[in-house]
Amino acid sequence: MHVDDLLIEPSRLRLSGRHAVLEVSSPLPGVLRLRHAPVSSEVGFLHPELPGKQSWAVTEDKACPLEVKRDGERVHVRAEGVSLEVDVESGTWRFRDVDGRELARTLGVHGEVEAAYPMSRHRSRLVLRAPPGERYLGFGEKVGPLDKRGMHFTFWNTDVMPHHPDTDPLYQSIPFFVGLREGVAWGFFLDESWRSEVDVARADGTLVAWESWGPELDCYLFTGPGPADVVRRYAALTGCPPLPPLWSLGAQQSRWGYENANDVRGVIQGYRQRGLPLDCVYLDIDYMDGYKVWSWDGARYPDPAGLVREAAAQGVRLVPIVDPALKQEEGWALYEEAKSRDYLVRYDRGGVLVGEVWPRPAVFPDLTRPEVQRWWGALHRDFVELGIAGFWNDMNEPSCFAVQPDLGILTLTSQRSEGVGKVEGPTLPYDARHGDKRHLEVHNVYALGMAKGAFEALRELRPEARPFLLTRAGSAGIQRYAAVWTGDNSSHWAQLETSLTMLMGLGLAAVAFTGVDIPGFTGRANGELLVRWMQAGTFYPLMRNHAGKGTPPQEPWRYGEPYLTLAREALERRYRLLPTLYTLLHEASETGLAPMRPLLMEAPGDAEAVGAFDQFLFGRDLLVAPVVRPGQTKRLAWLPAGAWLEWPGLEGTGQVREGGQYVIADGPLDTVPVWLRAGGAVALTRPAMHTTDANWKHLEWHVHAAPEVRGRLYEDAGDGYGASRLTVLRGGLKDGVLRLERSETGALARARAEETVRVYGLASVRQVTGAREHRFEDGVLELKVAADWARLVVEP
Ligand code: GLC
Repeated sequence: MHVDDLLIEPSRLRLSGRHAVLEVSSPLPGVLRLRHAPVSSEVGFLHPELPGKQSWAVTEDKACPLEVKRDGERVHVRAEGVSLEVDVESGTWRFRDVDGRELARTLGVHGEVEAAYPMSRHRSRLVLRAPPGERYLGFGEKVGPLDKRGMHFTFWNTDVMPHHPDTDPLYQSIPFFVGLREGVAWGFFLDESWRSEVDVARADGTLVAWESWGPELDCYLFTGPGPADVVRRYAALTGCPPLPPLWSLGAQQSRWGYENANDVRGVIQGYRQRGLPLDCVYLDIDYMDGYKVWSWDGARYPDPAGLVREAAAQGVRLVPIVDPALKQEEGWALYEEAKSRDYLVRYDRGGVLVGEVWPRPAVFPDLTRPEVQRWWGALHRDFVELGIAGFWNDMNEPSCFAVQPDLGILTLTSQRSEGVGKVEGPTLPYDARHGDKRHLEVHNVYALGMAKGAFEALRELRPEARPFLLTRAGSAGIQRYAAVWTGDNSSHWAQLETSLTMLMGLGLAAVAFTGVDIPGFTGRANGELLVRWMQAGTFYPLMRNHAGKGTPPQEPWRYGEPYLTLAREALERRYRLLPTLYTLLHEASETGLAPMRPLLMEAPGDAEAVGAFDQFLFGRDLLVAPVVRPGQTKRLAWLPAGAWLEWPGLEGTGQVREGGQYVIADGPLDTVPVWLRAGGAVALTRPAMHTTDANWKHLEWHVHAAPEVRGRLYEDAGDGYGASRLTVLRGGLKDGVLRLERSETGALARARAEETVRVYGLASVRQVTGAREHRFEDGVLELKVAADWARLVVEP
C-alpha cells in the first residue's frame, strides 16, 4: 500500500498518497463522493489540504456516516447503500465494488503544460471500467441515440447554429450519466466546471474515459437499483426543478423579428381571431434600444406597460429576452456602474475585456461572482414593475462573436475544436479573468450564475409569484432556476426526431422543464412539419413556437388549411392535458423525475425500450409515439410488457394491445398515437384560450382498469405558494370487481362540484356504487361523481 497517511473521520476518509490526495465521503444515502487532487505537480499546483473548491452544482451534503476498514493493501469504505474498496498504486487509485470488480481508476491527476504562459493547462483523467454490455444514458443536452456508447462529448457551453445530428458541444454541460445493464442502474457525475470531455466506451467497449482540464476530479457515484432511483439521487444532490407557474405551460409564441408593439398585438390577435389557445409571447432583441440590455426602443415599443396590460387583457404574458453582454458605451449608466464596481470580466493582463455580441463593442458582467449575481438580479426590478411575467436568458454560454485584441498580446482563444461538424461557436478567451478565477474554469457556470441571480431576485421582487426563467446555456444544477430550450435548431424533420432524445437526456439529469423551437428556428417549415412538431410538442413540458430572423413566418395559421385546424387541435390537446402535465412537474419538483421519460425508466430490463429513441413516456402512464417523419401515416412503436390502451382520451380506438412487442400505430395527420398503461389513471380538463388557475372546474379521470390502479393530481392557484391539493387514486380489479378510492391532502378550496370518471378495460358492468350516474357503452364506463367522492365500486 502506498498510502502515506490515512485520516478517518466519522463521515470522511482522507487518503494521502505520494502524489495525490483522495477524499471519500457520502453526502446522501446511496451516493459516494470521490474527490481526487494532486499534492503537487510539475507545474506547481499545491493541494495538500484540498481547499474548499467552489461547488457549483451540489446543494445537498448531509454527510452520512462512513465505516472504514483497512485490510492489508486495501481500504473498505461503507456508507448507507454503498460500499467500495479503494487502493492505490503509484499515484493511481482503484475502486472496486464488493465483489472485487474494478469500477474505476484514476489515471493520474497531473499538470501537462500546454502553454506555460499565462496559465498551465491540466489534464485530469478518470477511467471507468464497466462490462461490455453496459449502456450509457444521459449526458444532458446531447445529440445521438439514448444509449451514448461509442460517442465522444465535450462539455463546454457553446453557441452553435444550427445543430446537426453530430454537433457537439452544445449549449449545456452536464457531465452526468446513468449506466444500465440487465435492468440494474447506477450513475456517475463529474462535478467539475472546467472544460471536460468524455469518451464513452469507444475503444474497447468497456472504458469510459473522462478528462477534465482542471487540476482536480470531484466525482459522485450513485446506486440504483433502477434508473429512476439514480435520477432521484442525482436530483437530491443537485436540486429539483421548482414548480413553474401554470401559465408557462400554456402555448407560447415567439419570433426574432416582431419589430414593434403592433407586431406583438397582431400576433395575439392572430391567435384569438382563429380561436387558438395562447398564454405567452416572447419579445426578442427587437425591443431593445441599440441592443442595450434593460432598455426599450422608445419608437418601436413606446409604452411597454400599456402593451403588458393589453396582452394581459387577452390572457397573455410577455417574456422579454435578456442577454448578459453590456454595450460598451461611455456615459451609459449601466456600463459605467459595472465598470466602476469592478464587475466586468478582464483580460489576463488586467484591462476590461471587450468583445462583440449584438451590441458592439460589448463587455461581460462577471456573473460567476455572487455580488455580481445580486447586482444583476436587482436589475430585473423595472421590468417586473412593468408587469413583465418572466425572463428569457440567451447568449449566456457566454457567446461572444469576437474578442478585441488586448494591446496586441495574443490571448489564448478558446475557439474551434478539431473534427468535422465540430465547429465551436466563439466565446471568451480561456485566460480571461473572473476575479481570481480563469474563464476556462468558470465558463460552464456563467449561465448558472446568471440564472441564479435572476431567480433569487425574482423571488424577492415578487414573493407572491413563482419565477419563470428560460435559459439556453446551463450546467448541472440549472434545473433549480430555469427552464431550458435547446437553442437554434432548424426546420428539418431530422431535428424533430432528435428533439426527443435531447429532451429525454436533459430529463435524466433532472432538467425537467424543457422544450425546443417548434417548428425549427432556422430554415423553412411547411404545414405538415408544423403539425407533426406541434403534436410532439404537445408533450414537451415547454411548448414554444419560435423562429429566426429572416425565416418565413411560422405562426400556426401561416400554412392555411388543413394545417390551421390540425394545429388548433394540437393546442387543444395540450390544454386538455394540463392537469396531468402540471401534476408531473409537481412530481419533478419533489423527485427530479421529468415528465418526458425514456421507456426504460419504467422498463429498465427491456432491451428494446433502451433503443426506443423516437417515442417516450409522459409520466408513468402515457406512452407517446408521435409521427416524426414526412408522409407517414403509420409508424412502428414498441410497447413494453403489460397491456396498453390506444387511448381514446385523445384519438385512440380504445383497443387494448399486449405489450412486449412492436405494434403498427395509426397516425394519420390528425392523430398522435398515445397509449394508456393498464393501471394508469390520468386527469384531463377542457381546452381553453389560456390558462387561469390550476384548480380545474372541469375534470375527467381516465382509468385503465387493472389489478392495481394508481393516479395523482396536483392542484393549486396556478402560481404563488398558497394552498394546494394533492389527490391520489388507488384501487384495482379483484375477482372482476373494480374498487377505486380517492384521498386528498391540502387545503385548496374545491372549484368544482362534480367530476367525470371514464373507465376502460371492463367487460361488463352490472352495478355501480358511489357514482351519481353511470353509462356503459362500447366498453367504456362513464361515471358522474361528486367532486369529493371517496369510493367507487363497479361490479361485473
Ligand atoms: C439566439 C437565440 C435565438 C434568438 C436570437 C436573437 O440565436 O438562440 O432564440 O432569437 O439569438 O436574440
